[in-house]
Amino acid sequence: MKIVNEPFGVTAQGQPVERYTLTDGNCSASVLTLGGILQSWTVPDRNGAPTDIVLGFDSVGAYEAQDCYIGALLGRCANRIADGRITVGQQTYTLACNDNGINHLHGGMVGFDRRIWKATVLPDGLQLQYESPDGEEGYPGRLSVTAIYRLTQDTLSIEFFAQSDKDTVCNLSSHSYFNLGGHASGSVGSQMIQVDADRYTPLASNNAPTGEVASVEGTPFDLRQPVRFDAGWDSDFTQIALAGGYDHNYIPAGDGLRPFAQASCPQTGITLTVTSDMPGVQLYTGNFLRDDLPEGKQHAKYDRRHGFCLETQFWPNAFACPDFPQPIVHAGETYHHITNYRYSVCP
Ligand code: GAL
Repeated sequence: MKIVNEPFGVTAQGQPVERYTLTDGNCSASVLTLGGILQSWTVPDRNGAPTDIVLGFDSVGAYEAQDCYIGALLGRCANRIADGRITVGQQTYTLACNDNGINHLHGGMVGFDRRIWKATVLPDGLQLQYESPDGEEGYPGRLSVTAIYRLTQDTLSIEFFAQSDKDTVCNLSSHSYFNLGGHASGSVGSQMIQVDADRYTPLASNNAPTGEVASVEGTPFDLRQPVRFDAGWDSDFTQIALAGGYDHNYIPAGDGLRPFAQASCPQTGITLTVTSDMPGVQLYTGNFLRDDLPEGKQHAKYDRRHGFCLETQFWPNAFACPDFPQPIVHAGETYHHITNYRYSVCP
């Protein structure tokens, strides 16, 4: 694997942003020091044509002008916390409700997606580090976060480590929007999705899980066999209608590193297989992407459902749902998770 870097631009506050490009065989992936954003991932389609399979932008200003977390790392806590209320030990804290004033979302007003990370080239990957000060976005404890991107010919992996000086919340994820037809190819409706999970966590009207764990059996959430995204995303099944499509946490069976999901594009043959050791995965079909997004890479026009996300994570809203695994890292412990995105082509 080879890694090169170049300047990418400057933030509105004058901070320089670098782009690191990892190349291995005929695959390459670019990562920004802004938000640890995966800015591109180019792989050959079944005819060998290079195809960039993640949505992204060509300028820092475009990333700063959108609020869809495109390609970014998420922290300290991915997804929603109803009313912004967390409990760590005996103490309750109230965090900013940056999601329609009702939930804390993806780490708050200025989450890890908008921070500048410190990059170090390792022999086998790109290391990004961010020191989140005690009290940042209302969270207790100074949290030292490391994310390592690695690219082998067919697998892009993100490994996270974190340590805190006080017990705190830690639930790190990544918010790439994949489009296996190529980032500029429009809706992902005809692409196929399979999620290796029997259960998911239904949402309340605030789009945060209720605490219930439901079976996928007999519902549009049953993706155990591959189906087109558009077979289910406009269903009038209450949970789909509520979220405007898929925007739910699935619970892959078992623990440790295991299969989570597979998606593929019939046109390009490009297939993505996700494995992780996290407790859950949010399948999000880009229902909130809008045509007023900044112009995408190479003048691409992005709109609703032009990408899908598979955000490996702790189950959302865990603080209001005591039976859910709690995303707490204790002082002195090391938080450690890994997610692998493996590329292949089907004939
Ligand atoms: C997803 C979340 C969606 C939406 C999106 C960002 O992770 O599940 O509801 O908030 O992030 O636009």
